[in-house]
Amino acid sequence: MVSPFEVLDVDEDADEAAIERAYRERVKETHPDQGGTVEAFQLVRRAYRELDERDRNGTGDDAPGDGTTADIDLTEDGEAAEVDPIRVEFLDYEVLTDYGWSLDDDDLFRKASHADLGETEHGRLLVQPDESLLEAAENRGFGWPFSCRGGACANCAVYLVEGEISQPTDHIMPDDLAERGFRLSCSGYPLSDELKVVFNVKRRDELDDLVLPPGPFTRR
Ligand code: FES
Repeated sequence: MVSPFEVLDVDEDADEAAIERAYRERVKETHPDQGGTVEAFQLVRRAYRELDERDRNGTGDDAPGDGTTADIDLTEDGEAAEVDPIRVEFLDYEVLTDYGWSLDDDDLFRKASHADLGETEHGRLLVQPDESLLEAAENRGFGWPFSCRGGACANCAVYLVEGEISQPTDHIMPDDLAERGFRLSCSGYPLSDELKVVFNVKRRDELDDLVLPPGPFTRR
């Protein structure tokens, strides 16, 4: 067992500001884009959530009831315990072009819920901590586009509507497109509890130069 204080490396009597500072530091150290692991990153996030809950409610979700904060389970060999899969709601970019919707529409996913879309066009899937977004889609039977699987093209690109996806530093996506929300699903690991993404955005004009021509290993 390890306490959230241990995970964040703060004293048990640390105030909110100190916890916040420690959290930011630990997030930087463990972020998968900075050489950390998804498991370590998720553990830091869980620790912070526990302490945040405790501050807001006077006790954490799993607190033992005596006002102390519950420890986070670790396996015996010191590896992080299983973390919950992340829920992803997805939408096929082709639907946007068919219906005349825009990536900037605030109610894009609400409109999708009310349209009569097939299960490969709009739906939800769970991503396990060791799966990239593309792997999760494939493991659940979806045929999302890809080509190189190594960060060297935009065939697997998705557009992030909500949430956070890691993006390793050695990738082809220009900063301005990454800032707008374009990510590579083959090397992107979900970092927030929930995500909304539009996949198949390789059809967008701004990604034209980054898309590899269809090869024998391209699904679509
Ligand atoms: S398939 Fe080429 S970067 Fe993902």
